[in-house]
Amino acid sequence: MPQTPADHAAWTSVDTADDPAFFIRFLDASRARIVATAASDPGAFFAYLEVHPGQRVLDAACGVGDLTRLLGLLVAPDGEAVGVDFSTTMVAEARRRVEQSDLPVRFEQGDIMALDFPDHSFDRVRAEQVLQHIPHPETALAELTRVTRPGGMVAVMEPDWDTLVIDADNLAMSRAFTVYNSTVVVPNGSIGRRLPAMFRDAGLVDVDCTATVLLPPHSALQEFIESNTHNAVTEGFMVQSEATAWLHDLETRSAGGRFFAAFSYFQVVGRVAATAPS
Ligand SMILES: C[S@@+](CC[C@H](N)C(=O)[O-])C[C@H]1O[C@@H](n2cnc3c(N)ncnc32)[C@H](O)[C@@H]1O
Repeated sequence: MPQTPADHAAWTSVDTADDPAFFIRFLDASRARIVATAASDPGAFFAYLEVHPGQRVLDAACGVGDLTRLLGLLVAPDGEAVGVDFSTTMVAEARRRVEQSDLPVRFEQGDIMALDFPDHSFDRVRAEQVLQHIPHPETALAELTRVTRPGGMVAVMEPDWDTLVIDADNLAMSRAFTVYNSTVVVPNGSIGRRLPAMFRDAGLVDVDCTATVLLPPHSALQEFIESNTHNAVTEGFMVQSEATAWLHDLETRSAGGRFFAAFSYFQVVGRVAATAPS
């Protein structure tokens, strides 16, 4: 079985995976649509973060940096977009993708739970699809807040994996898959619903939450579903015969244009108070 993002904690140890480049390929495939949408109108895509020329913006856990580069477009010519990622594989790829451009963008290796920046370094800070994976999401949010200037904005985007619904003949198996993924596979599977309270606990103000329901096709989920189901059977969470029948049902549905799956994705934005509360 090849290593996949369905492996436990895989996203926190990309560099030591059997095939680190797999994670680059996975991001390129799974993020292609959102990156294309963002590239078609970066200003509209990042409107929630109120990004303007001259600002310093941090994209924490930036992956291959495709969205970081678009932030660079918005802050040019005098601002700077900085992408940080724990994985040196990701940072090298992100640097490779920006080296031919004169965008004000740079990439650094770093840990979102202990950022190597002084307090109040950035006007805008964002982190997408990382708090679900790391051991201490509250520490990460405290770091994102610390490096944002008073009056600046912090944004986090995460799914809530308990909201995953998959149509199937055997709905008990779909529910079992959702529970297995949310509670066993993903370290913080219910992070999506927790974000608004976490933002308030971090001292952020003007907290706003937007929810989107994503409807991924079978092709986007197939590897995730199959590898997690394989692991669930191996670990005794599912019975092999039921799992095989359930996977076969999903494939049949896909072939007949009857596959349906959905989950909720939450975008939470908050502002660092302009003056410290007395
Ligand atoms: C699912 S990818 C998301 C990448 C990007 N934000 C996006 O939305 O396409 C998760 C990223 O978080 C990075 N990561 C994992 N743990 C991290 C940590 N402690 N600090 C910084 N980055 C981390 C991984 O290397 C990976 O690039």
